[in-house]
Amino acid sequence: MDVHGDVQHLVLETSRLLLRRYKQEDAEFIFQVVSQRKIAETTIMIPHPYPRQTVDWWINYVDGNFDEGKAYELGLFRKDSPNNYVGNCGLISVSKEHNNGELGFFIHPEYWNTGLATEACQALIDFGFMNLGLERIHGRCMSKNIGSKRVMEKSGLVVEGLARNEVLKWGKYEDVCHLGIIRSEWLNSKS
Ligand SMILES: CC(C)(COP(=O)(O)OP(=O)(O)OC[C@H]1O[C@@H](n2cnc3c(N)ncnc32)[C@H](O)[C@@H]1OP(=O)(O)O)[C@@H](O)C(=O)NCCC(=O)NCCS
Repeated sequence: MDVHGDVQHLVLETSRLLLRRYKQEDAEFIFQVVSQRKIAETTIMIPHPYPRQTVDWWINYVDGNFDEGKAYELGLFRKDSPNNYVGNCGLISVSKEHNNGELGFFIHPEYWNTGLATEACQALIDFGFMNLGLERIHGRCMSKNIGSKRVMEKSGLVVEGLARNEVLKWGKYEDVCHLGIIRSEWLNSKS
């Protein structure tokens, strides 16, 4: 993974992806992805239906958090087709007090199971430990979200526990799997 620019103008580069900060012009492309039921049904936070104007609000929210160092969410674009938005990956919250961050991600269904989420997560994890100096990165997914759990495990996170009935999604309580990686494990994986 290569890091270009300072944090304010951050671009991460992996073998197939450019991960960059959002612009208002991305709104329509983001909407095409987040408005899909397939994206909402396994995520804890994304509603369905997804109002179009919420995307505009979300871009501002992500941008403000980025500037304040509270979160680092990036848009994913294919290097061979840079206008092609393929999803989102980021440290969706960063605690300066505890020096940790939470990972979050989604990928356009057209590209599922081609390794893009794992490639993006690995880049964000490297960025979190290397550039932000974090001690811990964690993530969570509904236990039925096998793909998301697998992405996090392939990225080096280990299962730390299962929180039963942690979220109420569409009228049903769901168990949530918690995963994490600490700095020493990340360093070992690099040696
Ligand atoms: C979860 C998600 C991000 C995965 O993205 P992706 O780009 O397809 O992920 P990858 O290709 O890097 O890896 C997916 C892995 O899960 C596996 N997988 C996916 N669905 C599976 C299933 N139902 N059973 C078993 N394995 C499954 C794939 O085989 C692959 O593992 P492998 O490389 O060992 O074969 C994508 O499905 C998505 O955006 N889902 C909706 C949003 C979401 O749930 N986000 C996560 C919220 S916590």
